[in-house]
Amino acid sequence: MRERKLYALIGGLLLLAVVYLNWEPGSGSGSESVFEIRIPIPWLQPRMGFVTRNSTRFVDSETGSLVYVTGWNSYWLMSSGSRVRVSEMLRRGRDMGMGVCRTWAFSDGGPQCPPGSMEWLSIIETILTRKNTYSGVMYSDEPAIFAWELMNEPRCVSNSSGPLLQAWIAEMASYIKSLDQKHLITVGLEGFYGHQRPGRLGVNPGQWAASLGSDFIQNSAVEQIDFASVHAYPDSWIPNASLEEKAKYLARWVDSHVNDSQNVLKKPVLFTEVGSHFHVKKNGSYDRDILLKTVYDKVYESAKLGQAGAGALIWQLVIEGMESYQDEFSLIAKEHPSTYKLIMQQSCRLRSLFGKTDNNSTKRFNLFRDYLIKMISFVGESNVSHCQGLHTNNEQDLLKVYYVQLIIYLCCFKEA
Ligand SMILES: *[C@@H]1O[C@H](CO)[C@@H](O)[C@H](O)[C@H]1NC(C)=O
Ligand SMILES: *[C@@H]1O[C@H](CO)[C@@H](O)[C@H](O)[C@H]1NC(C)=O
Ligand SMILES: *[C@@H]1O[C@H](CO)[C@@H](O)[C@H](O)[C@H]1NC(C)=O
Ligand SMILES: *[C@@H]1O[C@H](CO)[C@@H](O)[C@H](O)[C@H]1NC(C)=O
Ligand SMILES: *[C@@H]1O[C@H](CO)[C@@H](O)[C@H](O)[C@H]1NC(C)=O
Ligand SMILES: *[C@@H]1O[C@H](CO)[C@@H](O)[C@H](O)[C@H]1NC(C)=O
Ligand SMILES: *[C@@H]1O[C@H](CO)[C@@H](O)[C@H](O)[C@H]1NC(C)=O
Ligand SMILES: *[C@@H]1O[C@H](CO)[C@@H](O)[C@H](O)[C@H]1NC(C)=O
Repeated sequence: MRERKLYALIGGLLLLAVVYLNWEPGSGSGSESVFEIRIPIPWLQPRMGFVTRNSTRFVDSETGSLVYVTGWNSYWLMSSGSRVRVSEMLRRGRDMGMGVCRTWAFSDGGPQCPPGSMEWLSIIETILTRKNTYSGVMYSDEPAIFAWELMNEPRCVSNSSGPLLQAWIAEMASYIKSLDQKHLITVGLEGFYGHQRPGRLGVNPGQWAASLGSDFIQNSAVEQIDFASVHAYPDSWIPNASLEEKAKYLARWVDSHVNDSQNVLKKPVLFTEVGSHFHVKKNGSYDRDILLKTVYDKVYESAKLGQAGAGALIWQLVIEGMESYQDEFSLIAKEHPSTYKLIMQQSCRLRSLFGKTDNNSTKRFNLFRDYLIKMISFVGESNVSHCQGLHTNNEQDLLKVYYVQLIIYLCCFKEA
C-alpha cells in the first residue's frame, strides 16, 4: 500500500518533470532558444553547502573546507537582455577557475529611494522571498548565493552622514537577518578610513577619502555584518603616481585591511573590486597585471596562513556584444592573455590549497539561473583542464557561488 503511494508520487514527479521540459523562447529578437529542464521542487535540487564563516575565515558548510575566493564582477548581467550572454560569461568565468561572480540584484535605473524607508525594506523582502522558478527555491534558501551586499560604495559627504550610515547598515543588516539566517552579509564599502581613525589616515589615497561619511572599521564592525569588503582603484585614486608608487600603495592598502580584519574586526575581508587601466606594455608586463598580481599575492599569502584576506574579484569582465556596458576598466579576458593567465594561476593556486571536489554544487549552480527578471542563465558543463597539478580531475564545481548585490547606487544621507 505504502509502496503504491510512493510509485504514484514518483510517477507524478516524472510527469511534472516532463511538463517542465520545454523550449524557452528566445528573448528580444527571438534569436536565441534555450532548451531548459525545470523541476521546481526544492528538495529535488542537488545538495550544496552555504558559505559560512568561522571567525576570520569562510567555510563551506557542507564540506568543512576553507573558502578563499578568486572571482569577478559583471555588473551588466541583469541588463544584458540575453540568457545566452549571461550563460557565456559564467562559463568563461568558470573556465578561468573562478568561483564567485558579483553582480547587481536590480538594473540600472531601478528602484532608488532614501535609505531606511519602507520601500528599501520591501526591495530586500522582494529579493529574499523570491522563488527561483527553475528550482522552486526561495533566494533566502539558495546556497548558490554566496552573500548579500547592502549597497555599492556607500558615500555621503554631509557631516551628519557618518552616524546615519552606521545606523542604516545596522538596520538593513538586521532586517536581512530576520528574513534570511543562512547568507552572509557585507556592506559594500570602498574601505576608506574615517576621521575618527587618525592612525590609519595615511593609508587612504588622499585627504578627501576620510570625508565621505564612511569608516572601514566602524562600518564593518556592525554585528550583523559577517565580512568586510574593500575596493581598490589606484589608477583613479592616485592617477599621477608612477606604476611603482601605485603598486606600493596598493600593497599597503591591502595589508592594512587584512590586518584590521584579522586583528580588529575578526572577520574575513574580500577585495570585491580590483580595477586598473590597461596601459602600454612595459618590459614584458602590463600595468594591470602588476597591480592585480600585487593583490593576488597578498591574498595567496593570507590563504597560506589561514588569515582574513579571503579573496579578490577583478573589476570587470565583459564578453563580446556587451561593449555598451564597458567602462575604462573592463576587459574581455581572452583578448588579454597575460591577465587571463594571471587569473587562472590565482584560481589554481588557491584551489590547490583548499580545493575539494563537489559535483553537487555545480549542479546546484546550474539551477540558479532564473533571476529577478529571469536573467541568470544556464551554466553549461565545461572542463577546467588548466589547473595542472591539482589532485583532482573534476573541476566542474568551480563556479559554486554567486554573489548578489542588493543595492547598487548611493543614496545620499540627508542632514539630520
Ligand atoms: C573554527 O575554527 C577553529 C580554529 O580552526 C576550530 O578549532 C573550530 O572547531 C572551528 N569551529 C567550527 C564551528 O567549525
Ligand atoms: C561640517 O563640519 C565642518 C567642520 O567641522 C563645519 O565647519 C561645518 O559647519 C559643518 N557643516 C554642517 C552642515 O554641519
Ligand atoms: C594630476 O595631474 C594633473 C595634471 O598635471 C592635475 O591637473 C591633477 O590635479 C593631478 N591630480 C591629482 C589627484 O593630483
Ligand atoms: C596590525 O594590527 C595591529 C592591531 O590593530 C596593530 O597593532 C599593528 O600595528 C598592525 N600592523 C600593521 C603592519 O599594520
Ligand atoms: C619592469 O620595469 C620596472 C621599472 O620600470 C621594474 O621595476 C620591473 O622589475 C621590470 N619588470 C620586469 C619583468 O623586468
Ligand atoms: C564527480 O563527477 C566525476 C565525473 O562525472 C566523477 O568521476 C566523480 O566520481 C564524481 N565525484 C563524486 C564525489 O561524486
Ligand atoms: C551530494 O549529494 C548526494 C545526494 O544528495 C549526497 O549523498 C552527498 O553527500 C552530496 N555530496 C556532497 C559532497 O555534498
Ligand atoms: C573536456 O575535456 C576533454 C578532454 O580534455 C575534451 O575532449 C573535451 O572536448 C572537453 N570538453 C569541453 C566542453 O571543453
